[in-house]
Amino acid sequence: MGRAFVYVILGGGVAAGYAAQEFVKRGVSHGELCIISEEPVAPYERPALSKGFLLPEGIELILGTRVKSADVRRKTLLTVTGETISYKILIVATGARALKLEEFGVTGSDAENVCYLRDLADATRLVSVMQSCKDGNAVVIGGGYIGMECAASLVINKINVTMVFPEAHCMGRLFSPKIASYYEEFYKSKGVKFIKGTVLTSFDLNSDGKVTAVSLRDGSKLPADMVVIGIGIRANTSLFEGQLTLEKGGIKVNGKMQSSNTSVYAVGDVAAFPVKMFAETRRLEHVDSARKSARHAVAAIMEPEKTGEFDYLPFFYSRVFTLSWQFYGDNAGEVIHFGDFSGKTFGAYWINKGHLVGSFLEGGTKEQYEGIAKATRLKPAIEDLGELERQGLGFALTA
Ligand code: FDA
Ligand code: NAD
Repeated sequence: MGRAFVYVILGGGVAAGYAAQEFVKRGVSHGELCIISEEPVAPYERPALSKGFLLPEGIELILGTRVKSADVRRKTLLTVTGETISYKILIVATGARALKLEEFGVTGSDAENVCYLRDLADATRLVSVMQSCKDGNAVVIGGGYIGMECAASLVINKINVTMVFPEAHCMGRLFSPKIASYYEEFYKSKGVKFIKGTVLTSFDLNSDGKVTAVSLRDGSKLPADMVVIGIGIRANTSLFEGQLTLEKGGIKVNGKMQSSNTSVYAVGDVAAFPVKMFAETRRLEHVDSARKSARHAVAAIMEPEKTGEFDYLPFFYSRVFTLSWQFYGDNAGEVIHFGDFSGKTFGAYWINKGHLVGSFLEGGTKEQYEGIAKATRLKPAIEDLGELERQGLGFALTA
């Protein structure tokens, strides 16, 4: 049993949806393009986990179907249902999976009141667990994006939240200690408790198999009506190991998002691509890069002569409670903070090898965010850090 397509998109997430939109915009004939996704629904915007599906008409959709092996030499994919799908061009948009506590030697995270959050099914489950423990206690494991965003949502839903993570401060991959401290104090003012510098070692389970408490390495035990886990992700590369070149945990691609096999492209969280402005290969885990890398791959496939190298300015953002921040570039080098850390608007610049390479702003206006993006893109030389600190946000707005 088998079907053949010109273009196959493997994966049904954000990057898949944007790639499909770009194909349709540029014109594909009926039946030329197919999306294969393990999820039972069409691609959707993951950040909101809304049901705003991304898909235009005229595309063959093979949903609820996991691809279990790939043969890039023969240009075929084999699904769990036993079907062989062949392609001329493949776009790998398999994203990532949430890391499980079991991978750190802790058992029991399959209990019904323990939640991970990666897809629509996880989100639906998380909401139902949350609704069943009104006024109860949640333990949030991990101090990254999922931990911070879920903790805020749980508090808004009147659940008592304790966050547990191994680092000295939240958002360790991005925030400086000073920035982190602002958010931690804000969270504390909303009732969130922080237990830092330790990890979960085991769960207490009742006779129904539900978690009732978590034990931590520091010896403490926390009562829990529910647990949310956000301890990072792994890119879904396993189908291509030994067949494509991998780097930084992802599929290595060039500036056209093309892998070491010329018929295979990779986009979104699974792609490790050259970030031109840093002259380095990076794998990013954010929606803006998923959208833009997907569009770029399709442009490179359909109009190779007109499409240059992907030239991407990394962009991350989050919104929690009444707060909202944006970050552009790279958080490497020395940090210069600016603005009013006891007020609403503040930020930071990162200076590496004499150049401004990264900018962070909380509470900015649209124009201010555009300003820091533009300034970061220019990578201006910085001679006097004290002067930069004195000028603060004004520096970016006049750069
Ligand atoms: P994504 O994970 O979206 O899609 C991968 C798809 O491939 C899935 O449909 C999966 O089922 C499918 N798949 C994988 N293996 C398969 C196989 N073998 N066979 C068939 N199908 C397979 N970013 C940001 O910048 N701002 C934000 O606010 C947020 N918020 C946010 C909230 C939540 C809850 C999450 C989980 C993530 C975010 N992100 C974010 C991150 C952002 O959503 C992420 O970077 C993109 O979803 C990446 O898009 P991809 O398409 O690469 O992977
Ligand atoms: P993350 O990498 O942001 O954070 C992982 C956190 O896990 C670390 O900060 C650390 O505190 C913790 N940790 C690591 N090992 C641990 C262990 N053994 N025990 C306890 N804690 C441990 O990952 P995440 O928060 O799980 O987010 C998953 C993915 O979703 C990421 O790719 C992220 O970029 C994406 N996401 C992005 C946004 C956004 O951009 N606004 C929002 C939600 C999710």
